[in-house]
Amino acid sequence: MRVLLIGSGGREHALAAAMIEDPQLESLHVAPGNPGIAQIAICHAIDIDNNQAVIELAQQLDIDLVVVGPEKPLVNGLSDALRKVKIACFGPSAAAAQLEGSKDFAKQVMADAGVPTAKSYTCTNQAEIEKALDAFGAPYVVKHDGLAAGKGVVVTDDRAEALAHALLSARVVIEEFLDGPEVSLFGISDGAHIVAMQPAQDFKRAYDGDAGPNTGGMGAYSPLAWAPKDIMEQTLEKVLHPTIAEMAARGTPFVGLLYAGLALTKKGIRVIEFNARFGDPETQVLLPRLKTPLATLLYKAATGGLTDEMKLEFTNDCAVTVVLAAAGYPADPKVGEPITGLDDSPQTRIFQAGTKLKDGILHSSGGRVLAVTGKGADLTQARLAAYEVISQITLAGSHYRRDIALAASEIGEN
Ligand code: AMP
Ligand code: GLY
Repeated sequence: MRVLLIGSGGREHALAAAMIEDPQLESLHVAPGNPGIAQIAICHAIDIDNNQAVIELAQQLDIDLVVVGPEKPLVNGLSDALRKVKIACFGPSAAAAQLEGSKDFAKQVMADAGVPTAKSYTCTNQAEIEKALDAFGAPYVVKHDGLAAGKGVVVTDDRAEALAHALLSARVVIEEFLDGPEVSLFGISDGAHIVAMQPAQDFKRAYDGDAGPNTGGMGAYSPLAWAPKDIMEQTLEKVLHPTIAEMAARGTPFVGLLYAGLALTKKGIRVIEFNARFGDPETQVLLPRLKTPLATLLYKAATGGLTDEMKLEFTNDCAVTVVLAAAGYPADPKVGEPITGLDDSPQTRIFQAGTKLKDGILHSSGGRVLAVTGKGADLTQARLAAYEVISQITLAGSHYRRDIALAASEIGEN
């Protein structure tokens, strides 16, 4: 099988590293990729927001499967364009990617499918906004309707801040605050069937102790020993199956990765958000533990070959991913600094994200620069492995959280 992977982040590096382990894989091409990915696959510097350029590359290379990493090309209709020319694609159509692209659309689908989520109002003017804020009270949850690269959501006790954020967007979803730990659970779907990956937890705040601004994710761990034992079955039954069935019934089947961001509340699981792609950094923590050959799995999903009985196989060990962020991340990341000390140990894997080569030397080129995943028999060992490697990496002004999976490892539930 010849695969073309679209994207350039840490998620794509982890996808590439997992796919090259699949015995069915003949060659792996990535567009545009990054210096880390270039060590394990063939990279092509094309504009991935240009659907025609991707199609031409896939045809030139005689590609059997295109795997789309980021959400933007999905919302731009890349999957539709590929399917039109009969190239198998793992990634939803533009219509189905609206599950991520529009919070209001996701809420409507969940309502129609009976999927448990926060009560909400969609508002388009100040009077509606104020009414909704007062109906729910603090803490206020305000979400811009469209894709907002992680900046669309504000959760605050300050009504004035909530109102100001709401007024920045023509259409906002205001919803009930959900109290409880958050879990990311991914389903892989062929449009009619869906199989679940194990859950992971990510750390969204920039600094230790969940302080500081929201980020794209500063780390993750898996498995979650404290989560209900049947969390995968519950999520399949209450969230993933009904959502896939609803999307199929609407004539816009969801083929690709359905990311359910869940809150485990006292009243049960509730969906906080859907994404239409693999999460970052959850992918970097989950895929090193996946035993099921990934390229074959994604090909089956892209071509209607899954069954509901299929189960994915994971190793029994634990994994912890720690993200190295540039100085100033997330507000104003400083880029273009040299990076040294990238030495994997047998228990770790370094996944590059915001990196580029300048005169043959690795430099930072984005806010989230790289991630180190450590594995071990328990979370304590996995943490040790990851932190030993990340502490040896030098990048001026960079920072990483020291408490990824710390609380879970201290409870010693593994
Ligand atoms: P989202 O982009 O919808 O995932 O929101 C970003 C973050 O805001 C989530 O990971 C949560 O931490 C928080 N959040 C979103 N919706 C809610 C909610 N209804 N209740 C509590 N926190 C929320
Ligand atoms: N880890 C959060 C996201 O991928 O959106």
